Amino acid sequence: MEKNLIQKYNIPGPRYTSYPTVPYWDEQSFTVDEWKPTLLKSFEESNDKEGISLYIHLPFCESLCTFCACHKRITKQHGVETPYIETVLKEWQMYASLVGGKIRIKELHLGGGTPTFFNPDNLKYLLEKIFAAADVGPNPELSFEGHPNNTTSCHLKTLHGLGFRRVSFGVQDYDSKVQHTINRIQPFEKVKAVTEAARQIGYKSISHDLVFGLPFQTWESMSATIEKTKSLKPDRIAFYSYAHVPWVRGVGQRGFDENDLPSPEQKRELYEKGKKLLSELGYIEIGMDHFSLPTDSLYQSMLDKTIHRNFMGYSSSSTKLMIGLGMSAISDSWYAFAQNDKSVEGYEKRIHNGELPIFKGHKLNEEDLIVRRHILNLMCLLETSWENEEMDLPEMTEILARLQEMQQDGLIQITGKRLSITEKGRAFVRNIAMAFDLRMIRKQPQTKIFSMTV
Ligand SMILES: C[S@@+](CC[C@H](N)C(=O)[O-])C[C@H]1O[C@@H](n2cnc3c(N)ncnc32)[C@H](O)[C@@H]1O
Ligand code: SF4
Repeated sequence: MEKNLIQKYNIPGPRYTSYPTVPYWDEQSFTVDEWKPTLLKSFEESNDKEGISLYIHLPFCESLCTFCACHKRITKQHGVETPYIETVLKEWQMYASLVGGKIRIKELHLGGGTPTFFNPDNLKYLLEKIFAAADVGPNPELSFEGHPNNTTSCHLKTLHGLGFRRVSFGVQDYDSKVQHTINRIQPFEKVKAVTEAARQIGYKSISHDLVFGLPFQTWESMSATIEKTKSLKPDRIAFYSYAHVPWVRGVGQRGFDENDLPSPEQKRELYEKGKKLLSELGYIEIGMDHFSLPTDSLYQSMLDKTIHRNFMGYSSSSTKLMIGLGMSAISDSWYAFAQNDKSVEGYEKRIHNGELPIFKGHKLNEEDLIVRRHILNLMCLLETSWENEEMDLPEMTEILARLQEMQQDGLIQITGKRLSITEKGRAFVRNIAMAFDLRMIRKQPQTKIFSMTV
C-alpha cells in the first residue's frame, strides 16, 4: 500500500453500521411516539415475508479488557443475571403487545458484553420465554458471542439445543505482551478447546474475532496469531481495525497510550499483510473487516447479493425490522432508529415504569433512505448505482466531484451511473462511503467522534 495514500486518506470516519451515523441522528425531533408507527409499518411489511431480526444485549463481563469499545458493565456479581433477564422479558412483552401479532424471528443474535457471563440455565429460560411469544421461522439464524474463557460445553449444548448454529469467539491476539497490555489473557488452549467442542456439538459456523492495530502489535506477532487461528479453521474471521476512542465516556481504553500503538502506516501494513495471509489460507474478504471460507453462508450471500449490514455487523439474511432488547441496544425499523438507555439502572428503571427505554433515535427522511441504500451497497457489495431514478440524488454532481480524486488514485471506477470499488480501494471503503454522507458533509464534526479510517 502506497504510504502517500495512507497519509491522504487516514482521517476520522464512521464505520457505517447505520446511516445516518449515531452522532448525526436528529434527536431533538425524535420521540418514542414517532418510533412506534414506523415499527408497526415495518412489522406489517416484513413479518409475514422474511420475518424480523432480534438482537439481545447482555452487557456483563467479569473483567475489563482495556481496549474494548463495547457497551458493557464489569461485575463479578452473578446476582445481576435474573433481574436483568426479567427486565429484557418485560421489554419483549411490550413489543409483542405493541405489534399485536406473533413476531416471526428470522434471525436472533445474543451480543454483549459477554452473553456467556450468564449461566446456561438462565439463557435457556430467557430464550424459551422469547420463543414462546414468537413464531420461529424455518431455518432461523441464531447466533451468540462467546468469551472463550467462560464458554462451557453446557453453554454450547444448551444453546445448540435451542437451535443456535453460529457462534463467534473473541480472540483478539495471542501475543503475551499485547494480551497483558489490553488486560485480556486469552490462552490458545482455551480457544482451541471451545472451538473444537462447538464443532463437535454441531455448530455450522464458528467465527473468531481478531483485532489489528492493538498496542505493541508487530507483523511478527500478528502473523503468529493468524497462523494459530488458521490451525483451528474457523469458518469466519472478523479482522477488526482497532478503534481507539478514549474520548467516548465509559470506554475503558487505558493501560497504554498512543505511543504504544502501531503508526498508521504500520497499522495499514498489519491489515494488508494479514489480508494477504488470510487469502493464502483460503479466506475470502467480505465487505469490510470480515473474511469467510467459501463454504460459509456469508460468502454465498455476498455472491447472491443478499448480504446485509446492521448494528450486529454483516449477516447473510436481510431483514427490514430489527428489534434490539437490553441496555444500549439499537432497534432499526428501516424508517427509524431507536437506542435504549445506556446504563443498566436507567434501562431497568424505565422498563419497570412501563415505558420503552428509548433515550434517543432518528426518523429517516427521503434523502436519508437513498443515501442509506448507497452506503449499504458500498459496505456490502463494494458497488452502487444511480441508474434507477429512485437512487438518484440532487447532490449527485457534488458527490461525484468529491469522488474524483479517489477515482484518479485508482480506488474506484465510475462507468456511466455505476460506481465500483477496486481491489486497491477496498481499504478505503469508509472514505468512499463518506462522499455520500450528506449529513456529515453539511455539518462537519466539531470534536473527535469517529476513529481513524486507517
Ligand atoms: C462483545 S465482544 C465479544 C464477546 C466477548 N465479550 C469477548 O470479548 O470474547 C465483541 C468484539 O468486539 C471487538 N472489539 C471490542 N472493542 C474493540 C475496539 N476498540 N476496536 C475494534 N474491535 C473491538 C472485539 O474483537 C470483541 O471480540
Ligand atoms: S472485549 Fe468482551 S470481555 Fe472484554 S470488556 Fe469487551 S465485551 Fe467484555
